[in-house]
Amino acid sequence: MSTATIAEDALKYTHVAMLLHWTIALLILANIALGLAASLLPTSVLPDTSVRFVIDTHKSIGITVLGLAIVRVLWRLTHRPPSLPGVFAGWEKTAAHVAHIALYVLIFALPLSGWAHDSAWNAAATHPMHLFGLVPWPRMGFLMHLDPALKEQLHTQLGTLHTWFGYALYVVLALHILGALKHQWIDRHSVLGRMLP
Ligand code: HEM
Repeated sequence: MSTATIAEDALKYTHVAMLLHWTIALLILANIALGLAASLLPTSVLPDTSVRFVIDTHKSIGITVLGLAIVRVLWRLTHRPPSLPGVFAGWEKTAAHVAHIALYVLIFALPLSGWAHDSAWNAAATHPMHLFGLVPWPRMGFLMHLDPALKEQLHTQLGTLHTWFGYALYVVLALHILGALKHQWIDRHSVLGRMLP
């Protein structure tokens, strides 16, 4: 391997980090589409069984993201990412780090708030959850066993929290993507290449 190739490799993420990054990104985009479809499309457009299928798939993808987020944090804690290029201004490095931390928080906050919202659903007991229709998945017991009136109230509040985490994700994701595109097209220092094989 030439010295130039070794130097370039030192600036890139590992293949595991790339795989986790793009898998989580694709699953989150799919889940935003499914979550919005379930909450926005009138039932005249989606019949009841399709709505259920959309929401159940959304829940399964969300729990998968939670599992991958745990793997990703463990990987991140044991592997140092390549440092940002020296040409970055100080404020750009700070903005990138803040956006990355916010994204880590949100990839946990979204599935956990969705799972909590679903666990406080009064019909949860009669609608058991199965990941992709196959693997039984528990609800959060401390929420499921509350008084029905309190559960109803928490179900609504946790649903609102889940939606707000979604709004926060749109903002941080937009900043993350715009930042990558600015470096790619305006500053002409490819950061996208660091996350691509
Ligand atoms: C990657 C993780 C997740 C993302 C990005 C995500 C995103 C979203 C979004 C954008 C909505 C629409 C909110 C709105 O604007 O009204 C939504 C709704 C919802 N989510 Fe999630 N979610 C995730 C995980 C989960 C999980 C793990 C569960 C449950 C186990 C869940 C349960 C729900 C439910 C029940 C709704 C309401 C659907 C309806 O309106 O009937 N979500 N989610």
